[in-house]
Amino acid sequence: MRKVFVKTYGCQMNVYDSARMTDLLAPLGYGTTDRAEDADMVILNTCHIREKAAEKVYSELGKLRRLKEARARSGGSLMIAVAGCVAQAEGREIVARQPAVDIVVGPQSYHRLPELIARIARGAGHALETDFPAEEKFDALPDEGMSAAPAAFLTVQEGCDKFCTFCVVPYTRGAEYSRPVTQLVQEAERVVRAGAREITLLGQNVNAYRGQGPDGEAWSLARLMEALSGIEGLARLRYTTSHPRDMSDDLIAAHRDLDKLMPYLHLPVQSGSDRVLEAMNRQHKADHYLRLVERIRAARADIALSSDFIVGFPGESDADFDATVALIRRVGYAQSFSFKYSARPGTPAAAARQIPDDVKDARLQALQGLLGAQQDAFNASCAGKVMAVLFEKPGRQAAQAVGRSPYLQPVHVDGAAGLIGRIADVRIEAVMSNSLKGAFVHQREKAHLN
Ligand code: SAH
Ligand code: SF4
Ligand code: F3S
Repeated sequence: MRKVFVKTYGCQMNVYDSARMTDLLAPLGYGTTDRAEDADMVILNTCHIREKAAEKVYSELGKLRRLKEARARSGGSLMIAVAGCVAQAEGREIVARQPAVDIVVGPQSYHRLPELIARIARGAGHALETDFPAEEKFDALPDEGMSAAPAAFLTVQEGCDKFCTFCVVPYTRGAEYSRPVTQLVQEAERVVRAGAREITLLGQNVNAYRGQGPDGEAWSLARLMEALSGIEGLARLRYTTSHPRDMSDDLIAAHRDLDKLMPYLHLPVQSGSDRVLEAMNRQHKADHYLRLVERIRAARADIALSSDFIVGFPGESDADFDATVALIRRVGYAQSFSFKYSARPGTPAAAARQIPDDVKDARLQALQGLLGAQQDAFNASCAGKVMAVLFEKPGRQAAQAVGRSPYLQPVHVDGAAGLIGRIADVRIEAVMSNSLKGAFVHQREKAHLN
């Protein structure tokens, strides 16, 4: 059997796409491996969001070229493919920079992989495919593999029409597209049958979801989740990533009404300064975000929030940065990601005058100190509580298993190795910086165990 190694960079949508590429190659006789040394084909599923992410790909390609040359010397071969957002953004330039690359395939055209592989096998040199709409891709993909992880991803929406001035996503993933409701319900039913207990609905702007319903009308994300809630055996729903502009009333109400929807929301604000938000083209003000948070908390008091922040966006003054700090103090986040602004070719903000790197560094450090302290405080508040944990994988120690709390915190439990794929009540006994340690209380949902 031939083997493929898919290495994934970037966001969860790439994780989903990587799984689908594996499904696509299975009928061609490819099993999977997680070592390039054992692989006949390596696919790098890449991310273009920041310069560092994109550069990593080229250093990895350098290593793969040496592996490919060694293979050729011993009479073997290695096929190298670049997929994902770097493939879309750079296309042919990738092959120019690293001629060992055989295939370049964009995020909306990877359903063409079998064809591209056949072309290479026929000795075609290089194969490049970077167009086609998302719609065609989803229709062309085969059903998922036979087994699913306890916590699975499901892409419901792709692309972005927002054009934040710092961001490459509208260029790499194309226009917003929502998959039809029936297709999604069927896919969700299949992954639940294959073992998933939790599904995270994915989209670059997932809360802008407007998919065609079985009644011919455009359904909102809230309506889609209500339909998915009816799937027996599915215990948990999540969705990410949301834009504050699209946080509609019915979605907020879903946090009150849908038992399976977990009390955790990633709602990136990027900055707390109205001036910067405007320059970023985020299309809302800080106050709008704060009022939104209040309404979400009114619907679901125990909800935990997370966000993304960018420091050092062109023109960001000390006062602008202070406004971000003030917003963070007002909201209180359970977890967050913060990044130094990275100028991306072709985006409007890249052409503006840039903030010096040492200023960015200092701001990032200050922000991460504050966000880290908020995360510690949130985790500490969980000590002594009983939480439902979905066990996902074995832990590092024997008989240990690691699962996730409703708030996405990793929870380690001794003696829980037999519980993978199940949900159990756990008392939180110790709090570490990025995870919790708990003890098993009693088994839930005995009737549902599969
Ligand atoms: N669709 C999501 C974001 C996807 S990108 C949203 O709208 O929130 C994930 C995060 O990367 C963004 O939230 C932003 O904080 C960060 N990011 C995007 N472009 C960036 C850039 N040029 N430099 C630094 N961080 C960036
Ligand atoms: Fe990028 Fe903005 Fe679209 Fe998010 S909403 S993907 S940050 S352009
Ligand atoms: Fe990166 Fe593309 Fe996702 S740029 S963050 S892999 S949409």
